[in-house]
Amino acid sequence: MNEEQRKHGQQSKSATPSDQKSEKDYSKYFQSVYVPPSLKDAKKRGKEEISYHSDFTIEDQYRGLGNGKKFYIRTYGCQMNEHDTEVMAGIFMALGYEATNTTEDADVILLNTCAIRENAENKVFGELGHLKHLKREKPELLIGVCGCMSQEESVVNKILKTYQQVDMIFGTHNIHRLPKILSDAYMSKAMVVEVWSKEGDVIENLPKVRRGNIKAWVNIMYGCDKFCTYCIVPYTRGKERSRRPEEIIQEVRHLAAQGYQEITLLGQNVNAYGKDIEDLEQYGLGDLMDELRKIDIPRIRFTTSHPRDFDDHLIEVLAKKGNLVEHIHLPVQSGSTDVLKIMARKYSREQFLELVRKIKLAMPDVSLTTDIIVGYPNETNEQFEETLSLYREVGFESAYTYIYSPREGTPAAKMNDNVPMEVKKERLQRLNALVKEFSAEAMKKYQGQVVEVLVDGESKKNPDVLAGYTRRSKLVNFKAPNSMIGKIVKVKIIEAKSWSLDGEFIEEGSIGTEFQEPVEVN
Ligand code: 5AD
Ligand code: SF4
Repeated sequence: MNEEQRKHGQQSKSATPSDQKSEKDYSKYFQSVYVPPSLKDAKKRGKEEISYHSDFTIEDQYRGLGNGKKFYIRTYGCQMNEHDTEVMAGIFMALGYEATNTTEDADVILLNTCAIRENAENKVFGELGHLKHLKREKPELLIGVCGCMSQEESVVNKILKTYQQVDMIFGTHNIHRLPKILSDAYMSKAMVVEVWSKEGDVIENLPKVRRGNIKAWVNIMYGCDKFCTYCIVPYTRGKERSRRPEEIIQEVRHLAAQGYQEITLLGQNVNAYGKDIEDLEQYGLGDLMDELRKIDIPRIRFTTSHPRDFDDHLIEVLAKKGNLVEHIHLPVQSGSTDVLKIMARKYSREQFLELVRKIKLAMPDVSLTTDIIVGYPNETNEQFEETLSLYREVGFESAYTYIYSPREGTPAAKMNDNVPMEVKKERLQRLNALVKEFSAEAMKKYQGQVVEVLVDGESKKNPDVLAGYTRRSKLVNFKAPNSMIGKIVKVKIIEAKSWSLDGEFIEEGSIGTEFQEPVEVN
């Protein structure tokens, strides 16, 4: 361990061996000097200090490292990963690299990976296989794996053993070290591995290259301490640590001044925001939102919520509306109290329904969406039926649905499972049919209504049509001049489909007012 690791209490960081990658016993040698990321260590978190660093700079020795070179980042998984990619792109640009959107053209390729389900990981291993020939044709090409998969010991070992085309592996806590990691990778023929298991840092001032100039993501917190029994995130993303409110407010103000129209506040469990900030007693997401709503930016969203920490003050603040939109993504995971208990979600079906009741009372026009896992170990048919009935009772407007995927190192992975895969698939199909029915139902209510749409750009399916989202996150397609892209416009809905709305452009909306009432009616 070096001084910096000791300071942060980190458990693992590689040494880069000086021998050649081509040697057969390379991985063996590596094992003897390299401490892998440990899921166990990641869980052993206490009340260690969170240190805030506001002084990120590119050290002189790394300046110009990328001059004349191009980088390519492929992102898998959630918005947190997308936003990490924006930060890494910012660091690349600060080092002198240029962006490219083809792997053939790139001098550095990074795969920013997701570990949440097995199929997400398989995609990455497949892609690494494809990249092998590029590396053969262009040996000076650097290939890196970062993101959540690199926090898993088994993945790091598999890459060390089988994917020798990889030059760098670095974890979610090591993004700010990218200049050093790149520089090490250029200097050494061996794989550079830098993954820390524990992290208590918040690093401000990181450069960012945001995708687009209409919508922006803003991290409000990192990590998760909930340890739901199926979930790998608390291990791969570390402990909960909040950014200071003044930093967040300043970033949102700055984005507003740059003309951004929508902000999404990001965190694995945003409702735990502020709990770890010791000098701010009782300061939570509700307080932060109450300050952010005064900023002159048309829309503010947040994701993802945990029902357990969703408090009354937040509901009260969200009900003030203005730029706080009427859409809440509230993952429930299951409708059965028994399954929720095994999942360690820390709420019952009844408590969830009570929360929904309170939210709807304060915001009768709210749109609720959710995440659901089917086929949890030993889930009975009755328990699954409870999920369907809860979905109906809440009246969710849409959902992301998943078949449970065991993740090594999590408690659920050790549970015996008596539910055959065909049964899990059948449950998923039944749930998806219900999700579609309810989405279509929600869309139908918009028929003939006028909605406000933030225009993202041309529709992916038809470049003659523009596409954008309402405050309640409904996708709307309509014809209008391209000059409307990036604006909030009024559209009359002509046809409601299952997942989207078709409409006619009416006019450019009145935007930018702080307390503008939405035009949509639900
Ligand atoms: N298997 C299936 N789905 C999972 N999710 C998280 N972990 C797993 C897993 N092991 C789902 C949850 C979560 C969403 C982001 O991914 O529904 O809310
Ligand atoms: Fe995973 Fe979300 Fe549970 Fe955290 S709250 S453990 S990120 S499902």
